[in-house]
Amino acid sequence: MSSLRPIAFTRGVPPVEAFPVAEVADCAASVLREDPNILLQYGKSSGYLPLRRWLADQHDVPVEQVLLSNGSLQLMEFLTVELTNPGDVALVESPTYDRTITTFCRNGVEVVGVPLEGDGVNLEALAAAAEQYHPKVLYIIPDFQNPAGVTTALAKRRAIVEMAQRFGFWVIEDVPYRRLRYYGEEQPTLFSLAPDRVMQLSSFSKLLSPGLRTGYLLGAVEVVGEVAKLAEDTYITPALPTEGIIYEYCRRGLLEENIARLCDLYRPKLDATLAALRRELPGAGYAEPQGGYFAGVTLPENLTTADLLVAAGRANLTLTNGEGFFTEPPERVFVRIPFCSLSIADIDEGIARLGQIVRGKR
Ligand SMILES: Cc1ncc(COP(=O)(O)O)c(C=O)c1O
Repeated sequence: MSSLRPIAFTRGVPPVEAFPVAEVADCAASVLREDPNILLQYGKSSGYLPLRRWLADQHDVPVEQVLLSNGSLQLMEFLTVELTNPGDVALVESPTYDRTITTFCRNGVEVVGVPLEGDGVNLEALAAAAEQYHPKVLYIIPDFQNPAGVTTALAKRRAIVEMAQRFGFWVIEDVPYRRLRYYGEEQPTLFSLAPDRVMQLSSFSKLLSPGLRTGYLLGAVEVVGEVAKLAEDTYITPALPTEGIIYEYCRRGLLEENIARLCDLYRPKLDATLAALRRELPGAGYAEPQGGYFAGVTLPENLTTADLLVAAGRANLTLTNGEGFFTEPPERVFVRIPFCSLSIADIDEGIARLGQIVRGKR
């Protein structure tokens, strides 16, 4: 048994100090007293109307274009059912969020990866894949991507929506990390560039709490309406009390403060991650994230993923199997570092152990 303390580079969850517990408890008590007959009853499948209105205001869209659900992953499932049929092709960034690959595959959709570069997908490869496969959708995480930490550059955003129009595919834009920007300038969303071609998913999971299970969809009224029908047949109504809590939290103006606090909490962790990567893994490839939860590292040497996982296990370092983020096994070993959930001491020590494994010292 290794005597090293265990360190886990696995799940992208917030650390417990991210939760504004007292405010959430206060909002819960207050909103349940204010609006019990709506929040404790069955309701519309599109979710708690005051929160839908609040989001519609924030995004400057009519409320009919906003739907709430029990987390954005549930919405990914609904969109897959609505926008694709078994046998269709979906394009994704390669690497991408592993649960999205699973969702498409479970629904009989063929998933084709388009190589992700430091500033977004390779456009030539995207155009070639669109020509070859006639995809129904492109799924993309343009801000602080999970797992690679990449942000899509403005010119690429414009080119992607132009291709969506030209080839006639839908874009599913997933932006749960967008507001967690620690450096640099915000880029326009794909939804703002092409509101008739892009369905946008987002979530309160990373801005407030994943346990509240509240995600939202913005987009074309027809698709939102179809998703609402599917949601009704699936669960009648999403969990309204948590949507009420979030509404009250937003209504009091606390969300912006919380986002600023989270950015201050996570920025030093990103700094520590990049410093440790420079120190311990000088030959590795990675984009320098400007926000979000993840850095994605391509290891420099001739190591297989299986060897890495065994060596990491011996060093009491738990890693996610990086191959799960790809549609085809990657040429080089990929490691995702979910820095927000880790202490700076564990970031330093975990990346040091990774460096030792790569140098054959462990
Ligand atoms: C890119 C991406 N999309 C969706 C989700 C799911 O979020 P939710 O908690 O809203 O279901 C995650 C969670 O980690 C994610 O990283």
